[in-house]
Parts: sequence; C-alpha cells; structure tokens
Amino acid sequence: MHQPFTLFSCLLHWLMAILILAMLFIGVGMVASLTDYGWLVSIHKPIGALILVLVVVRLINRLRHPAPPLPAGMPGLLRFAAHASHVVLYALMIALPLVGWAMLSAAHIPVVLYGSLHLPPIVPANAALYATLRGAHTVLALLLFLTFLAHLGAALMHALIFRDGVFESMTSGGDKS
Ligand code: HEM
Ligand code: HEM
Repeated sequence: MHQPFTLFSCLLHWLMAILILAMLFIGVGMVASLTDYGWLVSIHKPIGALILVLVVVRLINRLRHPAPPLPAGMPGLLRFAAHASHVVLYALMIALPLVGWAMLSAAHIPVVLYGSLHLPPIVPANAALYATLRGAHTVLALLLFLTFLAHLGAALMHALIFRDGVFESMTSGGDKS
C-alpha cells in the first residue's frame, strides 16, 4: 500500500479540516443573520486563533515529517496540481486568521478569546486599512472554499477511481501495513 502520513499528521489534518469547514459556515451564517450574529462572532474569533496556533504546529510537524511520495505512475501535471493546491491551502490557513485579526485591529475592535483574554492589535487603527482587510477576508475565504472543493474532488478521485492508496494515506495514519 501507498505509504501513510504519520498518525499525528492525520489527526492534525482532520481536526483542522473540521475547524476550517466550520469556520466557513460560521462566517457565512454570521454575516447572513442579525439574531445569531453575536454568538457566532464570539466563537469565530477564538476558533480562528486556535487554527492559527494549529497551523504553526502543523508546519513544524510537516517540516520534520515530509509528506509520503505520491504514487510513481502519477502524471507530472497531477503531481504539480497536488503540490500547488497544498501550498495554496497552507497559505490560506495562515492568511485568513491573520487577516481576520488584523482587520479587527484596524477597526479598533478587541479580539476577545474568552472573558477578559484579548489578543493585542497587530496593525494600527485605520478605517481605510480596515476596509481593505475586510474585503480581503471575504475574497480569501471564497478562495479557500474553492480550493477545498478542488481538494475534496481530488481526494474522492483517488479514493473511488484511481484507488492508488493516496486517500488511505490520510485515513490510516501510521499504519505501515
Ligand atoms: C481559518 C480561519 C477563518 C475563516 C475560514 C474565516 C471565514 C470567514 C467567512 C466565510 C466570513 C464571512 C464572509 C464575508 O466576509 O462576508 C468571515 C467574516 C468575518 N471574520 Fe472570519 N474567518 C477566519 C478567521 C477569522 C479570525 C481569526 C477573525 C478575528 C480574529 C475573523 C473575524 C471575522 C469577522 C469580524 C468577520 C465579519 C463580521 C462582519 O463583517 O460583521 N475571522 N470569516
Ligand atoms: C472532507 C474533507 C477532506 C478530505 C476528504 C481530505 C483528504 C485529503 C487526503 C486524502 C490527503 C492526502 C493527499 C496526498 O497525499 O497528497 C490530504 C492532504 C492534505 N489536505 Fe485534506 N482533506 C479534506 C479537507 C481538508 C481541508 C479543509 C484542508 C485545509 C483547508 C485540507 C488540507 C490538506 C493539506 C494541506 C494536505 C497536504 C498534506 C499536508 O501537508 O498536511 N484538507 N487531504
């Protein structure tokens, strides 16, 4: 069988997949609802901060345990698409929480994690900067959703059509059989 990712890499992948997909829906729900806005925003911020911490752990883990090689017969273009989409996913996992944090800093709104636990501002308060970052947050979220759809499509192609063990490499972590 195709060599798997380590158990820790799989756990991080699936935990972050759940959190990130939840954040996309929480974000959309938040801007679409007046009644649920308050509590959705109050969970959007700490989950976003948690994602930022987890992606740093994941990057360090990824440098220490590189991804298993893709199957030898996979065409060059597909290999490139796989690597490029993973780089884009990593970039967005880092950029979205940072832009969210920066845009609230620019709006002079505290980033409340829990009770009186706040994150410090990372950019100066500035209305024009807020407007730019607010727009960027929307565009990046849309881009993340589109890249995720391509990623899901590719994962299902590997699981159901190619049946080359790539899908299982992320579901059977650490299992060397
Ligand atoms: C992976 C992390 C994140 C994802 C996927 C995400 C996704 C989204 C989405 C889909 C929206 C609604 C779409 C729109 O802009 O119209 C949104 C809005 C928003 N996000 Fe995030 N976000 C993330 C991290 C953060 C973080 C870390 C913060 C703040 C610390 C934050 C603060 C906000 C705020 C304040 C809004 C808009 C609220 C409003 O305009 O009333 N986001 N986010
Ligand atoms: C139901 C949803 C998902 C499925 C079925 C899935 C499936 C997979 C599979 C099978 C792999 C291994 C591919 C390979 O070896 O090249 C993988 C890798 C990866 N996935 Fe997902 N995934 C999902 C959601 C997500 C989400 C939401 C993200 C991030 C936004 C994500 C980010 C990544 C990244 C960056 C990799 C490359 C491995 C790494 O360096 O961590 N995945 N995924």
